[in-house]
Amino acid sequence: YNDHQERLIDLHESLTELYHYLLTTTKLGHDAMDYLQGRGLAKETIEDYQIGLAPNDGNIASQHLFNKGFVQEELLDSGVFTGANDDLRDRFRGRIIFPLRDRRGKVVAFSGRKLPGANDDQAKYLNSPETELFNKSQFLFNLDIAQNESRRAKELVLYEGFMDVISAANIGLKNGVASMGTSLTQDQAHIIGRYSKRLLLAYDGDKAGLEAMKRALDNMQTWSSRLDIDLLLFPNQLDPDEFIQTYGADAYREFVSKQRVSPIHFYRFYYRQHYSLNDDQGKLNYIQAMAKIISQTDTEVEQAIYIKELAEDTGLSQEVLTRQIKQVRQTEK
Ligand code: GTP
Ligand code: MN
Ligand code: MN
Ligand code: MN
Ligand code: MN
Repeated sequence: YNDHQERLIDLHESLTELYHYLLTTTKLGHDAMDYLQGRGLAKETIEDYQIGLAPNDGNIASQHLFNKGFVQEELLDSGVFTGANDDLRDRFRGRIIFPLRDRRGKVVAFSGRKLPGANDDQAKYLNSPETELFNKSQFLFNLDIAQNESRRAKELVLYEGFMDVISAANIGLKNGVASMGTSLTQDQAHIIGRYSKRLLLAYDGDKAGLEAMKRALDNMQTWSSRLDIDLLLFPNQLDPDEFIQTYGADAYREFVSKQRVSPIHFYRFYYRQHYSLNDDQGKLNYIQAMAKIISQTDTEVEQAIYIKELAEDTGLSQEVLTRQIKQVRQTEK
């Protein structure tokens, strides 16, 4: 970091302390604290992630920073404040604050969640804008902790939401990361590949999560092909955090170890939802999509197994399907 960046990091650390103090030890934080504990977060987790609260009114935050010797230009450069002069506004006011640490553990940005009682037309989450410290396309939430934990667990977990990362950490699973609500970028795929040989994709169990996980899987395989990937398909539209809250920590650990699926089985599930196997066109589309996937597998034994499954799905003979897959292989070459 250069000197200016060091200042901005100090500013973020200062705000993190203030927000965390307001949440955990003042009356202002009472409702937000109830909300977080109602979601099952232990005090220790709130501590570990230095979760906080940005006050709704007044200029407590800017005043706090001025008292610490920061100047207006620095407040604006941090991305946390908007406006000018006597009217500097904290963009996160009234929100629960999640400090965003970079891979070296420094707070470089924030995400703010609206409180449940808040105005409905507010976005649920608000992130810091891009700054010289915060580059969203390269950022992975919790990477500073997960890089060590994943060595121990021999696996990194990629979630869709950073609340899922925190919720898993709350039950002792600390090897999770999340992008900030954008689809996975090439940079993020490379970073993940650098820190772990094994990746578990654990996106939300709803339609949006399934689509996002498909894109992430496609991207991981083209951009970071050495990775060994498994996936989780959460039932009843649940996200990992909701699964934990609904069924408990033990059920979650059991689910993670016993219900993981391979990429090929994920694609099978995915394309069966997409194409109707009850009509010829749907069946054809399904076979084409799966033939492409199967043609990319490494060994003939694997191919034989998947072709058998594809035959079961479609009622076509294994011979016909094998020929189809050979054809795809040829045209791909
Ligand atoms: P909770 O509702 O608090 O449990 O959040 P979640 O983790 O379930 O979030 P959700 O599945 O709705 O979205 C996944 C991720 O997308 C979040 O972690 C955010 O990074 C991002 N996201 C969700 N809603 C918004 C939004 O309104 N604005 C922005 N900028 N990002 C969002
Ligand atoms: Mn504390
Ligand atoms: Mn979602
Ligand atoms: Mn979610
Ligand atoms: Mn959620």
